[in-house]
Formats: sequence, C-alpha cells, structure tokens
Amino acid sequence: MRHSTIRQLEVFEAIARLKSFTRAAEELCLTQPTVSMQIRKLTNEIGLPLFEQVGKKIYLTDAGAALYQTCLGVFEHFSRFEMIVSDMKGLKSGKLRLAVVTTAKYFTPRLLGMFCREYPGVDVTLKVTNRERVLERLTNNQDDLYILGQIPDAVDATTEMFLDNPLVVLASADHPLVNEKSITIARICEEPFIMRESGSGTRMATEQFFSEHNRKLRVRMELGSNEAIKQAVVGGLGIAVLSRHTLVLDAPMGQLAVLDVEGFPIKRHWYFAYPSGKQLSVVAQTFLQYLRQASEFLEDLSCRYAISGHCPLIKCNAT
Ligand code: PGA
Repeated sequence: MRHSTIRQLEVFEAIARLKSFTRAAEELCLTQPTVSMQIRKLTNEIGLPLFEQVGKKIYLTDAGAALYQTCLGVFEHFSRFEMIVSDMKGLKSGKLRLAVVTTAKYFTPRLLGMFCREYPGVDVTLKVTNRERVLERLTNNQDDLYILGQIPDAVDATTEMFLDNPLVVLASADHPLVNEKSITIARICEEPFIMRESGSGTRMATEQFFSEHNRKLRVRMELGSNEAIKQAVVGGLGIAVLSRHTLVLDAPMGQLAVLDVEGFPIKRHWYFAYPSGKQLSVVAQTFLQYLRQASEFLEDLSCRYAISGHCPLIKCNAT
C-alpha cells in the first residue's frame, strides 16, 4: 500500500460510510470519474476488490471491511495529531460537541461561556434534550461528551461524577404546607402533582423514590419543561419535584417554596459520560479537566442562588 495516498483513503472511507460513489463524490466535491479512478488505483495497489455491487447496492468485501476499520483508526490518529500540534502551539482549537439532559441547561451554558473565553478557538455545539434522547445519542456516538443525572446502565460508557444534583419538592409560596416541618410522604401524595414528561431523568428518579416508599402520586398534569412546571406550581396547579439547579437565577422571584418533606432532597449527582473506548479529542479532554475544576464554582453558585435543604422561601435575588 506504499503508493496509496491519503486522498485515496479519504475517498474510500466516504464511499464505505455513505454506501454510494455519487454521494461520496458530492461530499468531497469531486467528479464521479475522479472518485472511480482513485478507487481503481487503490484496488490495484491492494490487489483485491474493495467493493461489490449487488443490484443497486454497494457492499464492502472482506478486504474492504478491513481497510475501512484501518481508515477509521488512521483518521482518528490524524485528527488527534492535529489537535496535539495546536496544543503545542498553545492554540486549543477544534470542535466540542456536547449533548446534555434538559435540566443541565441551568449550568452548562454558563460553564461553556467561561470555557470559550479561555479557549476562543474552540467551536461548541450544545444539544439539550431529555435523558432518553441523550442516551440514544451516546449509543450512536454522535457527540464528544454527554452530561446526565444518572449513570447509563444499558450503554457501555465511561462516567465521572462532578456535581451534586439534589431534587426538591416545590410548591407555591402561599401553599398551606410551606411552614410545616417534616411533611410525610403520604401527605405529599394527597397533593395534585405536576410531573415531567416520560423519558425525563427527573421523572425517573421521582417515580423511583415514591415507588420505593410504596406510595403513588396524584399526577394532575405532565409537562415537558422545567420552566413550565415552575410556572404551573406558582399558578397553584400543584406541587412538583425538580432539581435544585432549576432554581438558579430565573426562579419566579419569591413565588416558589421548597417544602420540608421526609426523605428530601433526593440525592442525585451530575455525571459526564462518553462511550467506553472512545478516544477523546484534546479539546474534549481539556473540557473534562475544566469541568472537574469548575465543579467547586458551580456548587457555590447553586448555593448562592437557591437555598438548599428545607428553607421555605427560595432566595433567588442573591447577587
Ligand atoms: P431530565 O434529566 O432533564 O431529562 O429530567 C435530569 C436528570 O437525569 O437528572
């Protein structure tokens, strides 16, 4: 293979991935005869066919499949090499693709803001969606890093905890239970409850908590957004269990209260995760390092903006 070029491997990789000469030519901005010629040269060099066509479909031969795996490794190494060189030049640059669960949106953009100020050459894309969809993306290896509220059990992932994520019971500030101490779980179950949508990690943890205590909630309404739930609670439609992080900055001022309920807050944590065996880019590794250091700052931030534990009224106007 000494005479094969990187360009030929790029062409081959695109065809193998897209299963089409035409789409590969489009993606690489080449003409189809050029693509075919590059593959002919590569095939001659290797001495075995790389593709076979059955009907209109293209399949990799055994030699093609082995070469495809080799290409993936080679390109991964090249991209790491490029980042290492940028690193040596002191230019942390490249792409960072993050996918986080809905509730992590209360701190992730702030973290990214600080990170991007430090590394202006980094381009970030942030996908915010519920736990179920984040797990789908993790399984399909669509991003560099993921942030979720519980270690994925069905996917082989490397995880690390970096921050507390207590779940608290919220009621409107004029709710009759606001000044009560040690409210029982049975009493909470008499109240109309506003629940996150199915697929949400908050919902999963809440349901698990009440089922472990052999109690059933009176769910009055399901809403797919923490913000909508807070507004519904303020509007007196019911009580809810949400992460304390949702109270950062934009909690409806003085209109929400954290109830003092037995067994609360539910102790959860934030984890970052990536598929086991994934070679993290230098940028992703730098962000992980940054997350570890920033967790102290975040702890401090969430304590300053929303009182933890059982304090009735949420102080949301702290500076
Ligand atoms: P959610 O996830 O935003 O999907 O509810 C939060 C969590 O898992 O804690």
